[in-house]
Amino acid sequence: MNLRIVARLINLPENRAVRVQTAAHPLLLLRIGNQVRAFQADCPHAGAPLEDGVICNGHLICPWHKAAFAVDSGAVVEPPALVGLRQYPVQVNAGVVSVGDQPIAPEPPAPRLDARCFAVIGAGAAGTAAVATLRREGFAGRLLWIDREANPAYDRTALSKFVISGEMAAEDTPPLLEEHSFADLGIHGEVKRLDAAAKCIELVDGRRFDYDAAQVASGGAAQPLDIPGAVLSNVFVLRSRDDAARIADAAQSGACAVIIGDSFIGLEAASALRQRGLVVQVVSRHEVPLAAQLGRRIGAALRQLHEDNGVIFHSNTEPERFDGHGAVSTVLLKNGKRLAADLVLMGVGVKPATAFVHGVSRTDDQSLSADAQLQLAPGLWAAGDNVTFAWHQQPVRIEHWRLAQQLGVLAARNMLGDAQAFSEVPFFWTYHFGKTFEVLGHAQHWNRLHLVGDLQRHTFIALLCRDDQVETVIACQYQQAMARLSRRMRQPLGKTEALELIRQTRH
Ligand SMILES: Cc1cc2nc3c(=O)[nH]c(=O)nc-3n(C[C@H](O)[C@H](O)[C@H](O)COP(=O)(O)OP(=O)(O)OC[C@H]3O[C@@H](n4cnc5c(N)ncnc54)[C@H](O)[C@@H]3O)c2cc1C
Ligand code: FES
Repeated sequence: MNLRIVARLINLPENRAVRVQTAAHPLLLLRIGNQVRAFQADCPHAGAPLEDGVICNGHLICPWHKAAFAVDSGAVVEPPALVGLRQYPVQVNAGVVSVGDQPIAPEPPAPRLDARCFAVIGAGAAGTAAVATLRREGFAGRLLWIDREANPAYDRTALSKFVISGEMAAEDTPPLLEEHSFADLGIHGEVKRLDAAAKCIELVDGRRFDYDAAQVASGGAAQPLDIPGAVLSNVFVLRSRDDAARIADAAQSGACAVIIGDSFIGLEAASALRQRGLVVQVVSRHEVPLAAQLGRRIGAALRQLHEDNGVIFHSNTEPERFDGHGAVSTVLLKNGKRLAADLVLMGVGVKPATAFVHGVSRTDDQSLSADAQLQLAPGLWAAGDNVTFAWHQQPVRIEHWRLAQQLGVLAARNMLGDAQAFSEVPFFWTYHFGKTFEVLGHAQHWNRLHLVGDLQRHTFIALLCRDDQVETVIACQYQQAMARLSRRMRQPLGKTEALELIRQTRH
């Protein structure tokens, strides 16, 4: 092994990661007392510079989407990363830090015999995280990983941000796993029926599989509107890579796009298409977008950001019908206005994809009803957008990428014999005109808002509190504070302590 001198111990602060450039590649150095660890410097999820992250209670938190890694080993602790950090050997001699040029090979899990058959239905956020977990934990039985898409396990969140904006070709959407990809492990096919009592899965093409434990990670289907003209061509929904490819093809610069709904996906699409040079109009039942999730002040600031970039809003109305010959050409609104449209995107909600599951309870929205450990029936768990589960004694269903992955990991561990309940803080991010908005928590009962920073300049952090207890935090350009809060908010947090933590954290 070749060792290269990379730093002096005295120059490495504690509790702060430092990036150093070697001839071969950048490294991240972490000092713990008189010991130093060296890792790859960029996050394996989407390449964030990890020196901008924070260290909390033995974990390094990525600044961008809050993946967590163990500081002693680099092992992944929280998604969106699904693999740990490459670690390099370190020597400290007389205060001089040297690092080896080859990464330490991870210990392969001890081989063991396992006669069980596990099934994971779905290769989206939850299902892929589940498979990565089963592999990492050394599951050695038979694994059936089933998806109806031929080439799934890609980063769906990129579709509304970078694919329809034309910055990324649909086929370049980042894969979720390099190793153990769907092409290596998966079964391409649509599940027609899962019989929870018989522990049996049947595919549309007639193949049948018995399982010992299964996870339903089938997500949801974007709902089209049930109005005249919804079947015209160039009227789209956006869920899959194929949907995004079709929208990207139709989105020629100068064309007119009408977005139905002011959901996060609708607004991300508005931003992406506007940046591509389309005329973009958003039709929505509300004056202020996302007021329920973000509050009226932040929702209004988000609308202003869109308006400042040329998006036109038609509020307090909805479409009556879409008109055109073959392809859509106009949208008639219930308020009588008619909008020119070369393409329409319906962003009005998602229906859980659960019709094939038999012998379990459902809630009114057709999601699967699970207990706190995500279990539906003996040997059967669910994870992701399709499940309502108990969180702090309340039933919740939350459609976030990182949360779906966390649930997939949890359900996989419970399939292996654990009995864990979800105790993390929901997190999501959304991207509009170059600004990333981050949300921690799940606003339900807040009655006070405390704002730090400048909402209009999109440099702010807002505490949504129930009296003096923080329920949700929303921020733009406060990544380090949000990284700290992603760990701290696992326990109840008062407003005063939260404000102090924000004050002490660089951003
Ligand atoms: C365009 C877009 C952008 C988004 N951006 C963000 C974001 O920025 N931040 C954020 O937090 N969240 C975002 N989300 C939400 C996030 O993507 C979802 O919460 C997440 O994908 C849910 O994961 P899941 O595994 O439950 O479902 P999915 O990721 O949808 O995966 C479900 C999989 O199951 C398969 N499947 C379904 N039924 C069957 C069947 N019968 N047989 C076989 N296979 C089946 C599907 O083909 C699919 O591959 C976005 C969503 C979309 C659509
Ligand atoms: S880049 Fe690190 S979690 Fe996304």
